[in-house]
Amino acid sequence: MKIFLDTAEISVIQEMKEMGLVDGITTNPTLIAKTGRGFEEVIKDICAIVEGPVNAEITSTTADEIVEEGKKIHAWGEQIVIKIPMDREGLKAVWRLTQEGIPTTVTLIFSVPQAILAAKAGARYLCPFVGRLDDISEDGLALAADIAMVLGQYPDWTCEIMAASVRHPMHVIEIARSGVDIITIPPKVIDQMLHHPLTEKGIEQFLKDAATCYPG
Ligand code: G3P
Repeated sequence: MKIFLDTAEISVIQEMKEMGLVDGITTNPTLIAKTGRGFEEVIKDICAIVEGPVNAEITSTTADEIVEEGKKIHAWGEQIVIKIPMDREGLKAVWRLTQEGIPTTVTLIFSVPQAILAAKAGARYLCPFVGRLDDISEDGLALAADIAMVLGQYPDWTCEIMAASVRHPMHVIEIARSGVDIITIPPKVIDQMLHHPLTEKGIEQFLKDAATCYPG
């Protein structure tokens, strides 16, 4: 299973990279806006430190405009994947960009039928939004597992499933169990995964005991 970071914060990406945790990056307009910086500048900075796929989301709404915007963004970095919301015009653009060798992610997927259409259109990555389904009392984890099960039966569809809208470590555990290819995780959840009170207590005790018998 690959781990992508769901953030546009350069200092956070740099630190997580130093821990070997960054196979790729996902961003969206909300995450870019949180940085207080411009879209192009942020994406180029991310590309300077991350070799893996960097997902950058378009904001155009017609296929022609999405293709044009996607090509422009892709020119900023070889590793950029064009992230496109799931709708009719989006799928047309996915198909056309795929023909031109530009990889795409279809985002805002909330059902298995949407995932099937996005896979058929040629998307490289499919993003089911787990937490946002939970928010409306539906089972986001079941959706990710269903998509993995359905698409797993068709090896000629080479897309990877990237679970998104991950809110807490239990999501990570269940998504990992379901055989999803990639999970994109916000830094806050990585922090929660890192800590365990018994680890912290153990380190404190080891350091205390070492002070009585280690040199220096
Ligand atoms: O990559 C986008 C996705 O992870 C959004 O998450 O928490 O805003 O539903 P959230």
